[in-house]
Amino acid sequence: MTHICLENVSKIFGANHVESNKVLSLLEQGMSSNQVLQSTGYSVGLYNINLAIKAGELHCIMGLSGSGKSTLIRHINRLIDPTLGKIWIDTQHSEGMPEYLNSAERAADQPNVINVLSLSDKPLQQFRQNNVSMVFQHFGLVPHMTVIQNVAYGLRVRKLSKSERHEIAHHWLHEVGLENIDNSYPDELSGGMQQRVGLARALAVDTSILLMDEAFSALDPLIRSQLQDQLLKLQEKLNKTIVFITHDIDEAVKLGNRISILNGGRLVQTGTSQQLQEHPADDYVEQFMLARH
Ligand SMILES: Nc1ncnc2c1ncn2[C@@H]1O[C@H](COP(=O)(O)OP(=O)(O)OP(=O)(O)O)[C@@H](O)[C@H]1O
Ligand SMILES: [Mg+2]
Repeated sequence: MTHICLENVSKIFGANHVESNKVLSLLEQGMSSNQVLQSTGYSVGLYNINLAIKAGELHCIMGLSGSGKSTLIRHINRLIDPTLGKIWIDTQHSEGMPEYLNSAERAADQPNVINVLSLSDKPLQQFRQNNVSMVFQHFGLVPHMTVIQNVAYGLRVRKLSKSERHEIAHHWLHEVGLENIDNSYPDELSGGMQQRVGLARALAVDTSILLMDEAFSALDPLIRSQLQDQLLKLQEKLNKTIVFITHDIDEAVKLGNRISILNGGRLVQTGTSQQLQEHPADDYVEQFMLARH
């Protein structure tokens, strides 16, 4: 199991070093990301994010459109490099968060800690293959491959025979509730089924981190609810570290062990749904909690 830590992570899109510093100082003075955009023309993805996601946790990231959710999750597998900050991952199982993870400096000395930003091309590729998998909003299946080929795809880099790869893929299709569709093509399936295939594909590579960016948002409510239940059931067995992005507070409350709320690139509050309900950090959080069904 794996802990994920972000320390002082900021992302200013499209700005060079000097311009970024200017933008960061405006943000530090309390300017909102909208004001920054208006006065400088630069988009603030994230500002000064400090977040520790615990091993085995299903952590939901919530916020309105443009609040920085996708930007945050894409930092974890380094699809995005931060303007500033540190990101590290502790790959060793431990109960609770080890003390050294409170500081990037101290974490750097630990043999089981991966400093995500220091990975060069090859180790980064390995990190993406072995440590993190991702489920996308629009499924991201390869249209000309069959279901079983899609699920087995990520296993091709492991030195397994085709029959071994297909056996693993078949197992995970069964686990997500899909039978007898191994040889179908994605466009023959409903949205809900395609997303189950996407989930099976992410699970088949057996990474300890699963990143899910609005993975269920494109599905209709009943199917969506079924997939939420399935994910919770799987997580009881798998105990992965899951980062789940949603803009739906009901989904966040149902799934999340804890929820982080983003607003304009800032992390407003992290807590259990009960903590957010009882002690909302501001009106924005309170409004979300009041909007629950
Ligand atoms: N590649 C990019 N270049 C410039 N600005 C970007 C880029 N990606 C994101 N942004 C900006 O960063 C901010 C955060 O975007 P992000 O996509 O992370 O939001 P989000 O919370 O995922 O929104 P949504 O719910 O719509 O998916 C937005 O203002 C967005 O316009
Ligand atoms: Mg997004």
